[in-house]
This record gives sequence, C-alpha cells and structure tokens, in this order.
Amino acid sequence: MKQITENQPIGVFDSGYGGLTILREIVQKLPQYDYVYLGDNARTPYGTRSFETVYQYTLECVKLLFDRGCRLVIVACNTASAKALRNIQQLDLPHIAPGLDGPARRVLGVIRPTTEVIGNYSETGEVGILATRGTVSSESYLVEIEKFFPDVRVYQEACPMWVPLIENGEYDSPGADYFVKQHLARIMAQSPNIDTLLLACTHYPLLIDKIRQYVPKTITILSQGRIVANSLANYLHRHPELESQISQCGNRQFLTTDSADDFDRQATVFYGEAVQSVYCSPEVHVR
Ligand code: DGL
Repeated sequence: MKQITENQPIGVFDSGYGGLTILREIVQKLPQYDYVYLGDNARTPYGTRSFETVYQYTLECVKLLFDRGCRLVIVACNTASAKALRNIQQLDLPHIAPGLDGPARRVLGVIRPTTEVIGNYSETGEVGILATRGTVSSESYLVEIEKFFPDVRVYQEACPMWVPLIENGEYDSPGADYFVKQHLARIMAQSPNIDTLLLACTHYPLLIDKIRQYVPKTITILSQGRIVANSLANYLHRHPELESQISQCGNRQFLTTDSADDFDRQATVFYGEAVQSVYCSPEVHVR
C-alpha cells in the first residue's frame, strides 16, 4: 500500500461542477484545511446512468483522490452518494484503505447530513425532494428521512433536464424557465402542504433564483452546501484522530477528467471565484 504522505487534503468529488457549490461552503466554514476537488467532467452527467456505472466511476474517483493523499473524501454528488457510497464504505474501504482500527481513510456523502436535519425546516411535516433520476429512483431520501423524521412525508420529483441546462451555462436563460416551471408544478401538485423544497442535487443552487420565481414565497428552498459544511465540521470535531492528519496550509487544488480550460471557464459561477485546474485521468491509479 502507498505510504500516507505529508500532503493530506480533504477530497471533494462530483460528477462535474456541482460539488463546487458544496466545496465553496466547506471552504468558507473550514478555511484552514487543504482541499483537492475532482470533477469527473468527461463522464458527466451521472444522474441518468445505471447503478453499476455510477458505482464504478465513483470508486475510480475515490481511489484517485486517495492516491493524491486524501484521508477523507466527501462525495459531493447526490447521485453518487445514493448509488455508490454504501458499497464503497462497506465493501471497498476495507481493501483499498485497510487500517488497524477500521479503514485508514474515510468517504462521506451528502445525503445523510441533509436527512439528519431536513425535518427541522418544515412546519407542515411535508417536504419535496428535487433531484436527478438516479437519486429519485434510489429512494435514498425516502429511506434516510424515515430514519430521522419518521413523521415527515416526503415527495420526490426527478428533474433530468436541469443538470444539462446548468452544465451548458443555460441556467439563467429564458429556455430554462420552461423546465424549472414544469418540475416545480409537478412536485407542488403532489401535496398542497409541502412547505420545504430540497435542492438534492449539488448543481441546482445555480437555479435557485428561477426556482424562487415559481413557488410561493412561503416555501423554504434548501441548498445543501451549508448543511454539509456544518456536518463536516462536526464530524472532524468528533474524530480528532483523523482531523489531526489533515494538512492545514489552506491549499486548494482542482482536478478535472476533461479539458482544464473548459473547467476553469465554467467553474467560477459554481465556486464563486476563479480557479486553475489540472487534467487527470480517472483510470490511472495504483491500487
Ligand atoms: N451534482 C450531481 C448530484 O448532486 C448530479 C449531476 C449529474 O447528474 O451528474 O446528484
């Protein structure tokens, strides 16, 4: 096994740019740590792909981040969290990151932190989940919310056009209104009592202004960035043995499996500042 090196950043992974909306909030909350972001832009979107494919791609990306020294990887993609995280945690980590007392490296997702708190935002006890087809069909949100808030009723709507619109820079265009309106009308038609809508895809915060235009003002619209950042801070506090291993030089590195120039052009709107990325292949790693 590869030796753990001095440079041990926190890895943040998404199928494309969406995870940058999570990284942005994490960095704001925990600026002291080093971070490496990986966007699997060459193979995005994940939301329409099979369980097996999303699992294979996610595992490759997690291994790549481990090879870059990450002790902890945040899967900042709901689709990958829904379809791959449990397998990686239970089946793969014991082999790819063996340790004396449990795995030497950890992988966390974005669904659990969100479902732990979502019920606190709703007064009616009825929440709507807007997500990719993959996340919706996995039913992960239904299962996880039931664990923490058994009385909360959950409604789901898959919005397959939203990620392509966002990835193609059309999130602000008049064309986007049609699809935003369509899916919001569908989810709100499921119950008049929904008072909280979760943007359960890390790309969707870019549509938040449009979404606000098409739902009543009384509806709470939740993005996950801050929730995940708070949960990570809490996790690191509860795991000082892991926290003490993470390097703290305030470095940020950006990797993409597609064109670095394209990544740098697009990433700013998701991350809120300019980035300089480096190309890397998801298939090259030693483990
Ligand atoms: N950002 C990803 C998520 O949170 C979805 C993007 C995709 O379909 O690849 O689910």
